Amino acid sequence: MKREFVIAGNWKMYKTGAEARELVLALAGSFAAVRGLTVVVFPPFTALESVRGLDPKVRIGAQNVFYEEQGAFTGEVAPRMLAGLAEYVLVGHSERRQVFHESDADVARKLRAALAAGLKPVLCLGETLPERESNATLSKVDGQLDAALAGVSGPEWGSVLVAYEPIWAIGTGRTATPQQAQEVHRHLRLRLEAMAPSRRVPILYGGSVKPENSLDLLSQEDIDGLLVGGASLKAESFSAIINSGSQLLRS
Ligand code: PGA
Repeated sequence: MKREFVIAGNWKMYKTGAEARELVLALAGSFAAVRGLTVVVFPPFTALESVRGLDPKVRIGAQNVFYEEQGAFTGEVAPRMLAGLAEYVLVGHSERRQVFHESDADVARKLRAALAAGLKPVLCLGETLPERESNATLSKVDGQLDAALAGVSGPEWGSVLVAYEPIWAIGTGRTATPQQAQEVHRHLRLRLEAMAPSRRVPILYGGSVKPENSLDLLSQEDIDGLLVGGASLKAESFSAIINSGSQLLRS
């Protein structure tokens, strides 16, 4: 049986500071701390200060970070500016890659900068529908994984997480079946084991996760957690997902 799960909520461009604070407090009151269960939420930058230190059960991450330390980069946020505000950071989310044209090289630089600043990067990767339909899923995720993680070494591996998020499943209501997800997770697991033999790098699944499918997804051998978008915006649905993780850890 698995001993650890990371259940994460990506709040995207939703929630003001006050709304984020209210949601963190509601969430914290809706689940019990269980050994091996890590709950993380990713509010917008502007809400990070409002949720700082609210409850140790709800860890905080940022949704993005730039790779330069400082300078003339209007609108960007440097890794060290997140010190004390975020423990985790999403890197390479498909919306960043697609809407803001982030390349694999950008993602690799961001991941390195995040590690150097002591943040825990959650590397997001996944294929489009045409890629899946042309059997290019594994080559796509391999390319993304290798490009982002090539420079990671030694103890840094202890801070890295990966999130497999098939793009066709994000915000579409169309979830990968637990078997489809497991197949890619297994593949990623073997590749990560070759890169970091002594570590189990957590691999989360994301894409239309809901209370109705979270238990089945988490029951898969190589799914170590979930990255939840839409269903993380309400305490009721997100805590139901969190509680499916607690249930499995207790069983
Ligand atoms: P979704 O988003 O759960 O709304 O599909 C997941 C994500 O983008 O991380």
